Amino acid sequence: MFIKPSNRIRESEITPESVYRERRRFMQLTLGAGALAAASGAGAKPGFVADAGAAVGPDWLKQKIADAEPYGEKVTDKLTPYEHVTSYNNFYEFGYDKSDPAKHSGTLQPHPWKVEIAGHAEKTGAFNLEDLLAKVTLRERVYRLRCVEAWSMVIPWVGFELGELLKQFKPTSRAKYVAFTTLLDSKQMPEQASRFSTIDWPYREGLRIDEAMNPLTLLAVGLYGKPLPNQNGAPLRLVVPWKYGFKSIKSIVKIEFTEKQPGTSWNVRAPNEYGFYANVNPEVDHPRWSQASERRLPSGLFSPNIIDTQMFNGYADEVAHLYKGMDLRKHY
Ligand code: MTE
Repeated sequence: MFIKPSNRIRESEITPESVYRERRRFMQLTLGAGALAAASGAGAKPGFVADAGAAVGPDWLKQKIADAEPYGEKVTDKLTPYEHVTSYNNFYEFGYDKSDPAKHSGTLQPHPWKVEIAGHAEKTGAFNLEDLLAKVTLRERVYRLRCVEAWSMVIPWVGFELGELLKQFKPTSRAKYVAFTTLLDSKQMPEQASRFSTIDWPYREGLRIDEAMNPLTLLAVGLYGKPLPNQNGAPLRLVVPWKYGFKSIKSIVKIEFTEKQPGTSWNVRAPNEYGFYANVNPEVDHPRWSQASERRLPSGLFSPNIIDTQMFNGYADEVAHLYKGMDLRKHY
């Protein structure tokens, strides 16, 4: 992965959290009254680019997102503004610069979308996203996202617990891991056809089954109260907040219950640098840089906003038990 020295976002574009909160309340009111179109423009406060990042989606999805259970817990971190979340991305299927996904992901067609559920489960098959979402509860979850490149954001996702979905397919006792695959289609994801690409497409990720069933593990369909923009992994992406960001695979088309630990894109490409577990750990450095601190976006030359990295990205109370007795230097 590449480390960029600074982001390219102007400080003037920052959206205060209060503006987002007000906008969300507004959306709930107007959407409840059936005024879908009004939500994108009329309710936006000055300074909030309501439709930056081209977050589009069908009405049924917008309605479901508007009805999501609000985040009830206390959030102490300041939210990263929408403009930063949707313009500073890693999505190598669209290029290697942080600004490439927002510029080039317009070719992705996230609706309609099918997801295949496969492997060691009583029920398998291909399902429309709409049908899968009909059986789960959408919630807003504010999570820190810590990239292995040592930058981080705080994002209000809208999604559902992965475990809630997985249980419906009745995994068998042979299901020890869950493997995820991104869409493979170079017409929609042009970098997959590049001769210079170093990733063996499609992008793949995986979790141990107990990690997948942990209530923190989310499948997201939206952020900031809107459908996921393409650059953030529309229409369905994983969010595993205690792990480095590369585990949070985007634009998922397949979820498979496996008996063996699945191959994952970065681990296969550079196993000495990117482990299967990829738990955020300030004590285990990347071979080429320290993981003790991180650059919390927005950050700039004169306000780099460097903070200490927390063990398990601050989620140790919820997940440390999953790794009891394991040598985290070996299983990085
Ligand atoms: N998923 C796919 N399919 N392709 C990718 O290149 N990049 C990963 C992850 N998911 C990636 C992906 C990396 S390295 C990070 S840090 C996060 O997505 C970034 O998510 P964001 O762009 O929404 O911040």
